[in-house]
Amino acid sequence: MKSKLVFLLLSLCICVVVVPIRSQKHACDKSFPQRSKFPFCNTSLTYESRAKDLVSRLTLEEKAEQLVNPASGVSRLGVPPYEWWSEALHGVSNLGPGTRFDNRVPGATSFPAVILSAASFNATLWYTMGQVVSTEARAMYNVDLAGLTFWSPNVNVFRDPRWGRGQETPGEDPLVVSRYAVKYVRGLQEVPDEASAKADRLKVSSCCKHYTAYDLDNWKGIDRFHFDAKVTKQDLEDTYQPPFKSCVVEGHVSSVMCSYNRVNGIPTCADPNLLKGIVRGQWGLDGYIVSDCDSIEVYYDSIHYTATPEDAVALALKAGKYHSSYHQQKDRKKDLRLKGIYH
Ligand SMILES: *[C@@H]1O[C@H](CO)[C@@H](O)[C@H](O)[C@H]1NC(C)=O
Ligand SMILES: *[C@@H]1O[C@H](CO)[C@@H](O)[C@H](O)[C@H]1NC(C)=O
Repeated sequence: MKSKLVFLLLSLCICVVVVPIRSQKHACDKSFPQRSKFPFCNTSLTYESRAKDLVSRLTLEEKAEQLVNPASGVSRLGVPPYEWWSEALHGVSNLGPGTRFDNRVPGATSFPAVILSAASFNATLWYTMGQVVSTEARAMYNVDLAGLTFWSPNVNVFRDPRWGRGQETPGEDPLVVSRYAVKYVRGLQEVPDEASAKADRLKVSSCCKHYTAYDLDNWKGIDRFHFDAKVTKQDLEDTYQPPFKSCVVEGHVSSVMCSYNRVNGIPTCADPNLLKGIVRGQWGLDGYIVSDCDSIEVYYDSIHYTATPEDAVALALKAGKYHSSYHQQKDRKKDLRLKGIYH
């Protein structure tokens, strides 16, 4: 059986999800013996320096163990295991292993399929739905039934009606899909008070997927793993990229998921231009890039894009590598946003 490997392409996530005190023993709980020795527990420090401190304490093996969706945690440091994979396409869902229902919470609100809500053309509704979903998600997290990282929404433009997943998307129009992405993501992520907004706190973490030019599952002998989307620069700019750009630049999403397919010959999760060039460099993603389930294995196994599995992983890690200059760029954009110049 194939393992569900999901490689997080980046270790430093500057935006930190607001984490309440939980029952599990955690390095930063008052009862943890070495707590005071760990700067990563010190809430007076910036998220960035806390993340750097934590990463600096990890061995190479420990770092590698955190790069899959069932992250093992680091018990010697009081870092608990964490399941990154939760889903909330139109309501908190138990599709991902990070979320489950039980007799305390037998279900969550399920809004209509996204393509129907999108057809209301009501941006306030999309935002409100996001708020409801994230409130329920936090409630479930508080009783250990959900994670904090939701791999939703799906913002692929539904260009070809033969694609079987069209109902997951906000439709065929790049503008409407972009508006939907911004509103739903902000509804999920925003903590509606000024201090939290200033501190970049997240209610839950949202993810725009699947980046990019991904709208084929299985057609005439070609499936999504083998699909090589041939896209002109203009079509990429006009059709496929706008939802992702809006999602990052205006929605301030904390994650982007790269897809299974290739774009003009290069697997999206191995493309430094698409990832560090555009998502991080041009749009200034402040967060993490995650591969679709097994998509790194897919470009090794199914299309033999690299000679070894190790090469496949190395390509992905290099393609999404974070540079400190992106952080400065993010701060510049944030200044402009606060001044109302840049939205
Ligand atoms: C937390 O960081 C602040 C700012 O650097 C420092 O003044 C304080 O002593 C630190 N607290 C602990 C417990 O180390
Ligand atoms: C849009 O949705 C909001 C939030 O649900 C609702 O209050 C409002 O009436 C809707 N607007 C229209 C024109 O239906």
